[in-house]
Amino acid sequence: MKKKTTSSYKLPPGPKGQLLLGSLPKRRKEPLQLYMQGALEYGDLVYYRMGPMKVVLVNNPADIKHVLQDNQKNYVKGFGYSALEPALGRGLLLSEHDFWRRQRRLAQPAFHRQRLMKFAETMVDSTRRMLDRWAELPSPRGGQAPVVDVAQEMMRLTLGIVSRTLLSTDVSGDADTVGAALARLFEETNRRVLAAVRWDEALPLPRNLRFKKDLATLDNVVLRIIRERRKSGVDAGDLLSMFMQTRDEDTGETMDDKQLRDEVMTMFLAGHETTANLLAWTWMLLSQHPSVARKVKAEVDEVLGSRAPTFEDTARLPYIMMVLEETLRLYPPAWVLAREAVALDQLGGYDIPPKTIVVLCPWVVHRLPRLWTNPEGFDPERFTEEACAGRHKYAYFPFSGGPRVCIGSGFALMEAQLILAMVVQRFRLDLLPSHPIVLDPLITLRPRHGIKMTLNPIG
Ligand code: HEM
Repeated sequence: MKKKTTSSYKLPPGPKGQLLLGSLPKRRKEPLQLYMQGALEYGDLVYYRMGPMKVVLVNNPADIKHVLQDNQKNYVKGFGYSALEPALGRGLLLSEHDFWRRQRRLAQPAFHRQRLMKFAETMVDSTRRMLDRWAELPSPRGGQAPVVDVAQEMMRLTLGIVSRTLLSTDVSGDADTVGAALARLFEETNRRVLAAVRWDEALPLPRNLRFKKDLATLDNVVLRIIRERRKSGVDAGDLLSMFMQTRDEDTGETMDDKQLRDEVMTMFLAGHETTANLLAWTWMLLSQHPSVARKVKAEVDEVLGSRAPTFEDTARLPYIMMVLEETLRLYPPAWVLAREAVALDQLGGYDIPPKTIVVLCPWVVHRLPRLWTNPEGFDPERFTEEACAGRHKYAYFPFSGGPRVCIGSGFALMEAQLILAMVVQRFRLDLLPSHPIVLDPLITLRPRHGIKMTLNPIG
């Protein structure tokens, strides 16, 4: 068969963009607007040229299901994720095919119910420590309520939780170094994801040297913990012990240190910033929608009173779950996913040529007027059982879907429920007037200048 050239493919419609770079400059500067406008103007499939790359944005739930589930074998993570490789290696997020399947099977038991029950205790304990610290914060002059950046606070809390549940290590000796190195690593990775060229990564530029140093810092900490654990042989009941003990059912194989390192780093990165952002956006929305905040508080008062929540309580806090789901609709921390087509595929009557980057954007799909009534409105009632039953499963995909669905979704939702419940027992968080809240769509969707709020003790 004659090989097709770009011009002989039937490509979806889309904007032309600039002469050489196409839509790449706009992708770097205003990605949310670029994709939203594309979806509103061109519909289910939008074609963009971005420098040398062919990119297709997919907005129809049935087509999204096709890419993530029905024909997922034809799609790899590919170029869109390659900037993450130095940090995450062959961990679960980036690995492919049989190797990924084996690792996923090994990791899955770590997220089973019994393990989550244990993790809930750590989550409650870490949250209590944060709240005790908040209670001790001095009031600014004039007796006003103390102000915190909840984005930062949530980041610190979820990092603490992921490191305790994952490694049972009080990284407090290393906490500052680890936290700072992780943050900088993420920063540089973000930059690399959006860079037009990647050849400069090997040059001895200050940012590359810093990156290498931060990676080495984290590697040292993680590898040291792995070795100490191997030596002690203790089952700490955490994710690391799970990973060390699990044997592949078919081959009997266990993970070596390098693979453990990659999985631990992946969980660190995938497991804390996303949940922290979810919580930060939830605090913002609750302050903006006091009637919803009152319902949250009423649920907590009724189910828990002033006692600490347990794993079992999470099933009794359905309204909090709906609030979190609605926040994930409006502010999905993983706001964009990408796949690379391996072979030619068809979607909606158009060609998807090999090597095309297929972009799936929860931010856009979650706000499409053809799928959602009053899409900009914050309304947790959209997530009652009945309302969900009437919706296409892929109209809403904050955790992705298909075989590569987030492995930590249960962990994250439980964590966010517990934290939310415990905070509202003790504080009301109000947005600080005039603090600018700006969306920063990097690898995750963050508030660029944080979210400053006042802490108002209850009772
Ligand atoms: C609100 C919080 C979270 C959100 C929104 C989220 C979202 C996602 C999404 C969208 C993916 C798919 C990425 C892709 O295929 O391109 C993913 C994958 C993944 N997530 Fe999460 N995540 C969250 C929390 C967590 C937590 C707490 C953990 C671990 C403790 C975690 C670990 C992972 C891992 C390991 C993968 C790769 C799974 C695989 O490919 O087999 N995530 N997450």
